[in-house]
Amino acid sequence: MRRGLRGAVLGFTGDPFLSDDPASTLRITEDALVVLDDGRIAEVRPWSAARARGLEVVHYPDAILCPGFIDCHVHYPQTQMIGAYGAQLLDWLDLHTFPAEQAYADPAHAAEAARVFLAELLRNGTTTAAVYCTVHPQSVEAFFTESHRLNTRMIAGKVLMDRNAPPALLDTAERGYEESRALIERWHGVGRQLYAITPRFAPTSTPAQLEAAGQLWREYPGTYLQTHLSENEAEIAWVRELFPERDGYLDVYHQAGLTGRRAVFGHAVHLSEEEFACCHRTGSSLAHCPSSNLFLGSGLFPAFQARRRDRPVCLGLGTDLGAGTSFSQLRTLGDAYKVAMGRGRGLTAAHGFWLATAGGAEALDLTDTIGHIAPGHEADLVVLDLKATPLLEYRMRFARDWAERLFVLMTLGDDRVVRATWVAGELRHDRDKPGAG
Ligand code: GUN
Ligand code: ZN
Repeated sequence: MRRGLRGAVLGFTGDPFLSDDPASTLRITEDALVVLDDGRIAEVRPWSAARARGLEVVHYPDAILCPGFIDCHVHYPQTQMIGAYGAQLLDWLDLHTFPAEQAYADPAHAAEAARVFLAELLRNGTTTAAVYCTVHPQSVEAFFTESHRLNTRMIAGKVLMDRNAPPALLDTAERGYEESRALIERWHGVGRQLYAITPRFAPTSTPAQLEAAGQLWREYPGTYLQTHLSENEAEIAWVRELFPERDGYLDVYHQAGLTGRRAVFGHAVHLSEEEFACCHRTGSSLAHCPSSNLFLGSGLFPAFQARRRDRPVCLGLGTDLGAGTSFSQLRTLGDAYKVAMGRGRGLTAAHGFWLATAGGAEALDLTDTIGHIAPGHEADLVVLDLKATPLLEYRMRFARDWAERLFVLMTLGDDRVVRATWVAGELRHDRDKPGAG
């Protein structure tokens, strides 16, 4: 169906990380008409120049239309244990994560969690995510079934683990390969669903399993590879013990053929310069997960170093729930700002919104598909209400320009700000009319 959305529209003239003047890369059209047709964006014009006659138009005053947010790293089965108290990464996995993930042997449990998770993403304006399921193929089946029903563009895969986890969560190199292959055949490219081969992280896979993952990835061009990398000091030391013959954590993946375009590494908090350079050379992407890194005490990710202008690494934003503490990309951006400030230089609104939209699309190799409100792109949009709370309404009266308004949303915003979420041209979440989507 053809219809229009009217409001202020967020765009970018370039990448703020690569610009001498980051603020100038923000391009706001104050009053625009965005025409959606057959799931895609057909036109974007200033309202004054638009011909909307005969078109059903939904008007969003006091709001800004953004590309749907992109979450480059998140675990749907951990929704049930978000906010688990008191441990750093390796203990947190043993105490909270592995016990929770065992429940996903049950398809009904997985189906309910997938429904809750995807509804929560949409309530927070996130329309694409790179998602970890569990080791059970039925957890992937449940996730893609629900995402396909909603017509959301999702990337997901079965976790591969063949050591150092409870027996109920282990596969083998061969079984993991076969189950992943069957899921790729069943789901990759079905509607908007895309498959990610998902070895959890180096400590829970034998070298044979990492090799098998590399082989599978080569056999299915267009699929993704996602895993964790250099999140926590104890984890890094463990990888050094387990793979003494390798030059470092990233080298474990590199030698197994797991670097390249559409490889997405979560965290990468403690990379060496050589490792950043390897990511740049191979086109591998990083997912910055600030709320998780703060919650687990993992460290402060150096965003500006990652995206250094002479060798920028593709970079997106991840909630990493359930180690991350919110589904909201706005709250995650608030944390990203604080993490960057802890390293001496804060992210501007241009940096933040770019990471959550265009940067995420680039990191997921979907630049021509999502992450921009531009003709030809899929019509995934989020409408952010500038006056969603009494405090926001008051604060916005003193904001001088769009950069300030957007920065205030990064600092104070959460799900209350998300007025509506559109997915492939359909309204999937309407804050003020629950159930309408
Ligand atoms: N490293 C390996 N598995 C996980 C996980 O589930 N969450 C986080 N944050 N790090 C991990
Ligand atoms: Zn993670």
